[in-house]
Amino acid sequence: MTDAIRPLIAGNWKMNGLKAQAAEFDAMLNGAADVAGKADLLVCPPATLIAAFAEKARGKKAAVGAQDCHPKVSGAHTGDIAAEMLTDAGATAIIVGHSERRADHGESDILVKQKAEAAWRAGVTAIVCIGETQAQRDAGQTLEILRGQLNLSLPDASTAANLIVAYEPVWAIGTGLTPTAKDVEQIHGFIRELLTSRFKDEGARMRILYGGSVKPSNAAELMAVKNVNGALVGGASLKAADFLAIAKGCP
Ligand code: 13P
Repeated sequence: MTDAIRPLIAGNWKMNGLKAQAAEFDAMLNGAADVAGKADLLVCPPATLIAAFAEKARGKKAAVGAQDCHPKVSGAHTGDIAAEMLTDAGATAIIVGHSERRADHGESDILVKQKAEAAWRAGVTAIVCIGETQAQRDAGQTLEILRGQLNLSLPDASTAANLIVAYEPVWAIGTGLTPTAKDVEQIHGFIRELLTSRFKDEGARMRILYGGSVKPSNAAELMAVKNVNGALVGGASLKAADFLAIAKGCP
């Protein structure tokens, strides 16, 4: 029963955050117990802050994740970070295939799949992002694009425990625009169907997050949609009050 899936509210800080912002994370931790009845909380700061945040989060009702990883375990890859390094620092989940990485770094579905497997190799959950661009949406290609991304980016061994799908329409990221609740229901229903047909019971229990301009004012409506099992939040995850209010909006 998908309705029984516990929601996850995940914050993606993207390339934002210095040590000076640690107080905002402290405020999130302080409020986390109040929303623990509603949802799990995960904050994915830039890699430079993972170790310090993970230390703070110890014993608290929020976890710390990472935004990307290299597929390999080690080697001559200047500037890259292996999944094992992120988990060594305290990350308990790794976002892979975010549309900004797909666009900025030309990441392919195949690479995204390798990164998801790298997260597993390091012992943590992969949050695999998919989503159509405005042009693809305008051309009526949304479902085909999502089908292709899911087919190629999700490893065969995906389970409800090791994989989370995040549907983030590219046109909704950072724009203040969101699809209607009806559109979200249709698309998440489509994703659920594909997951269930490929991964059976595991697919029926996998979390499907919605991401793209989620904020306190629209969270309750979006989180109430069937097959929406939480949110991947960008801008609004930088402020403790907003992030916690989004979690409070979960049904
Ligand atoms: P915004 O919430 O800022 O639109 O970003 C969404 C996102 O890309 C999260 O990964």
